[in-house]
Amino acid sequence: MRPKVIMHTQISLDGCIRGFIDTGIYYVVANRFGADMVLFGSETVYTAAEQYPPETEKAFVKPVDTPDDKRLMCVVPDSRGRLRNLHVFRDSEYIKDFIILVSESTPKSYLEYLSERNYDYIIAGNDHVDYAKALEILYDKYGCRIIRTDSGGILTNILIEQGLVDEISLVISPCLVGTSEPHAFRSLSLLNRMPLELINCETLDNHLSIIYRVSR
Ligand SMILES: NC(=O)c1ccc[n+]([C@@H]2O[C@H](COP(=O)([O-])OP(=O)(O)OC[C@H]3O[C@@H](n4cnc5c(N)ncnc54)[C@H](OP(=O)(O)O)[C@@H]3O)[C@@H](O)[C@H]2O)c1
Repeated sequence: MRPKVIMHTQISLDGCIRGFIDTGIYYVVANRFGADMVLFGSETVYTAAEQYPPETEKAFVKPVDTPDDKRLMCVVPDSRGRLRNLHVFRDSEYIKDFIILVSESTPKSYLEYLSERNYDYIIAGNDHVDYAKALEILYDKYGCRIIRTDSGGILTNILIEQGLVDEISLVISPCLVGTSEPHAFRSLSLLNRMPLELINCETLDNHLSIIYRVSR
């Protein structure tokens, strides 16, 4: 068994993943999903703090997980072992802690970095992360039943291609961005047309929220 996977992405009317004004509508919709965890790419974490302060003792301590803590556990694939800035986000206002997805090819020094700081990590796959396997472990070991993505397109397209996405939620921003920014489905490669079923459509503060179920 694996958790229900909801791809949740904000786009401009012409499909760009950046370049719109962030009004918070994305998180209004995201908070309705009742997700246990959120999945995003290493690129987001890397670029959010390319320069970061040195670690303190706190960086080595796993935050205490209490039942009334509503912050989400963040799941990040990082098979290359790029991220050394996790302490900037750990135990912050919105993030409870990280579970890092790695593979058999992840440098051993990175696994040591994670272990020394008491981050949980899941080894799945030989080269890049095997998401089907990682999701099963999140379901079985961590009790994750619903996971949503907060990702920029490469990761979500891989999940769609591998048949791992159950719902696609798009928040459409009222603007056109043009060719300067990447498109959400830029790398999507499908052998066959994938039928979708519309399960919700509403306007929210001049934005459009549309949610499709992936037909199996
Ligand atoms: N509009 C929105 O809703 C939205 C939301 C979030 C982020 N964004 C934007 O999107 C940008 C990047 O998003 P992102 O950080 O989520 O990353 P992404 O660019 O969508 O994907 C990068 C992730 O995909 C994994 N990956 C790449 N190739 C793979 C493969 N062949 N097999 C398996 N996994 C593979 C990488 O894992 P490895 O490290 O293991 O290679 C990495 O963690 C950010 O700049 C941000 O501004 C937009």
